[in-house]
Amino acid sequence: MCGIVGYIGGKEAQSILISGLKRLEYRGYDSAGIVTIDKKAKTTLLRAKGKVAELDSKVATHQTSDTAGIGHTRWATHGEPNKRNAHPHHVGDIYLVHNGIIENYQDLKRTLAKHDYTFKSDTDSEVLTALIDYLYKDASSLLEAVSGALKMVVGAYGIALFSVKNPDEIIIARNGSPLIVGVAEDEVFIASDASALVGYTDRVIYLHDGEIGVCTREGIQLYDVDTQVVEAKVEKLELDLQSIQKEGFDHFLLKEIYDQPNSLRSTLSGRINPQTNSVKLGGLNMSDDELRDVRNIMIIGCGTAYYAGMMAGYFIEQFTDDVSVRSEIASELRYRSFHVPDNTVALIVSQSGETADTLACLEELKRRGVKCLGVVNAVGSTIAREVDGGVYVHVGAEISVASTKAFTSQVAAVTMFGLMVARAKGVSSKDLNTYINELDMLPGEIEAVLERSAGEIQQIAKKYAKYDHALYVGRDTHYPIALEGALKLKEVSYIQAEGYAAGELKHGPIALIDDRFFEVCYLQDNWLYEKTQSNIIEMNTRGAHAIVITDTDKRIAAEEVIRIKTKLELLTPLVFNVVSQLLAYYIAVARGNDVDQPRNLAKSVTVE
Ligand code: M6R
Repeated sequence: MCGIVGYIGGKEAQSILISGLKRLEYRGYDSAGIVTIDKKAKTTLLRAKGKVAELDSKVATHQTSDTAGIGHTRWATHGEPNKRNAHPHHVGDIYLVHNGIIENYQDLKRTLAKHDYTFKSDTDSEVLTALIDYLYKDASSLLEAVSGALKMVVGAYGIALFSVKNPDEIIIARNGSPLIVGVAEDEVFIASDASALVGYTDRVIYLHDGEIGVCTREGIQLYDVDTQVVEAKVEKLELDLQSIQKEGFDHFLLKEIYDQPNSLRSTLSGRINPQTNSVKLGGLNMSDDELRDVRNIMIIGCGTAYYAGMMAGYFIEQFTDDVSVRSEIASELRYRSFHVPDNTVALIVSQSGETADTLACLEELKRRGVKCLGVVNAVGSTIAREVDGGVYVHVGAEISVASTKAFTSQVAAVTMFGLMVARAKGVSSKDLNTYINELDMLPGEIEAVLERSAGEIQQIAKKYAKYDHALYVGRDTHYPIALEGALKLKEVSYIQAEGYAAGELKHGPIALIDDRFFEVCYLQDNWLYEKTQSNIIEMNTRGAHAIVITDTDKRIAAEEVIRIKTKLELLTPLVFNVVSQLLAYYIAVARGNDVDQPRNLAKSVTVE
């Protein structure tokens, strides 16, 4: 949520900040702003409601040659999205941008009001700016003032700030909200997300919680919150320009749907081998004995990551009867009483690796001594660094707010972990081989669907774009896919969509069926074919507008039937899911929506 950028060096800062904000816009797009400072401490502050393009048009008429500055793109938490609440905030000598939430800002505001501070915005961030300004009056340095302020605040933050008293220094700090520093010759780049740094430098420093950085043209010096020097570890940024560009597609969402054969190949590469019947995840830090001892797997995530865990859990329970799997919504788990049986491994699933609720569960489970493994995409992210071991899904940058390629690869990664457990427990080679073969075939099967069916799905989408509501239904392994399909549709099309287990229809949801609804039904030619078909017939009887996604040639009574040819059996739901992704995409396009940046959402939910 929200994006931070900063630059100090020898180049013109405004265009670097704007380019960084454009790349971070998927993290929040309610308002945006930048401030730059020249060598004589003259500042130029520009802010605009709405997208970075609005801000960019202001820059065109207020160009400077300043070589230092900070910027922000906002996803509103405190205070409505308008120019007044946009960052950077300016109080006294201080300009500041902030990601996160300062929980005790009301108390601090009251205290600062007694010292004659008045506030122009409704934000917690402006209060933090004022606090630093206030402490700076009596501090020996800005670093000391920032350290003092951070000791007084409760909450999460990633901040970048400077004082007009020293135009040659930008200070940054992190607690619970990511910040990355890119270092190059005589310049330092600051960003809340690596994608803003790509193309500028590949030498990066990931800030840890509790660290403060003082950035100058000579480089960065890190400190802890007591201003003791901390050694910075410079790492190589593993992200290329290609993955943050649309490459000829109209939207990132479509590009990322089409990325899936290759992104999945990256996830599987070197990890499975059908010839040797092997599956091996390098970073688990678990011996075969430890894998054999696993009796319970908890899979934790939010949104699509939660559904991916649920999906993989269904597979894992199919191929080993010695393990129980439970999938948990992180925002629920963190606040409820729950018990962790012995011999449990927790899988923490997150594309961004920064989701606040998921991270909170990780911390709680670690506190209880549970072995936690990450299933993460963003290399170097907080979750990736905090877990005991894990697996990167390696899908490259996922820019569209609606997650697609991450889902497919998260399912594959968790399934591979389950296979490793099953193998350690002595599952038959034959059963193991079935799954490994299917995983190996999956990228090609998805490729075939994209090649053969996209045109047909686009046509069907045009017809259903007019509906207000949708039901997605499936049984067994198609239930998580129904949930994920409905989430995708609602996110990008704003059609109210619900996923249901098909067997639940008669227990309530079937009452909804009327001409305002269409239904998406997943019908695989397997042991539940007849049962699911009965559910479709029951819906048809009540006037459903059903779209059936199926792998069979059998006659099916439905308004539309999307037939998918696949050699898969077990992993078929993942292929059907690609159909749902395309359906959601084309419906959203037909409705004229901003599919990559849907309203009210942000890519990475770093606040609760
Ligand atoms: O970065 P994460 O995987 O932890 O994000 C979890 C959810 O916020 C995310 O999957 C969200 O539901 C997507 N917008 C779904 O498309």
